[in-house]
Amino acid sequence: MKSLIEGVIVELCSNAGTLQPRKIVIADLGCSSGPNALALVSIAVNAIHAHYLQFQQPSPEVSVLLNDLPENDFNTVVKSLVTLRQSNNPVVLTGITPGSFYERLFTSESVHLICSSNTYIGSQRYESDATLMDRSCCITHRLWCIDKEKFDSFYGLMHEPSLKELREIIQEEGSFSIREMREHDPRTDINKTLSTPGIFAGFLRSLFEPVIVQHFGYVMDEFVRTVERRYILEGSLQEERAKCPYAMLVVSLAKA
Ligand SMILES: C[S@@+](CC[C@H](N)C(=O)[O-])C[C@H]1O[C@@H](n2cnc3c(N)ncnc32)[C@H](O)[C@@H]1O
Repeated sequence: MKSLIEGVIVELCSNAGTLQPRKIVIADLGCSSGPNALALVSIAVNAIHAHYLQFQQPSPEVSVLLNDLPENDFNTVVKSLVTLRQSNNPVVLTGITPGSFYERLFTSESVHLICSSNTYIGSQRYESDATLMDRSCCITHRLWCIDKEKFDSFYGLMHEPSLKELREIIQEEGSFSIREMREHDPRTDINKTLSTPGIFAGFLRSLFEPVIVQHFGYVMDEFVRTVERRYILEGSLQEERAKCPYAMLVVSLAKA
């Protein structure tokens, strides 16, 4: 995603024929509150800085708006925003925009770049998420007692589109033109020594927490502990992961 964001910033800042922007507004939709909350907007801010430094021109002011659902832990996000604001080149002003990105969040024509990761899309090429989720719940069912009736009535079907399907959906909808689309296996970037059962259990949690909590109540700590224990007991992490390779779709769109 880094190179895509950097590419968009270069295009935005050096758009021939238009005035150089005097301010740039960047938003992240579904920023969450962990260490990744500022990851994408920081890439954009650094790219703006690098671009204007290269041409020895003053940077435009940058406004960074972070969005997530109102239940998100924005206190933590706000504390981390201080690091962005400390930068004086470019001058960065920050704000929080709570609400669903399915509703209106910004005034019209006010945002230059919108970033979002792991919120709209995540794709598994060879195995559907439904299968993976079923398997995780089976794991939980075997090692940790949950209500059998609840377990049997759990049906969490999810469809996540392939690159081709996504392209067709975007083209059919018509609001955006596709600048670039890439398929990426995030595991190629992961240091193998960091690829532990705990990290994999956390990954499953980030994918399925909302549906699991909705059906079973807040059982996520037990869920993660049990999944982790199962992988450790059976030593099956590598095997499990080899069976279900997955891909992330990275997409750059421009307003049509
Ligand atoms: C898996 S996390 C991804 C967090 C971060 N973007 C990342 O890549 O690590 C998904 C985030 O999207 C948020 N989210 C889900 N639906 C949303 C919606 N309709 N509007 C705003 N945020 C939403 C969730 O609250 C959650 O924080």
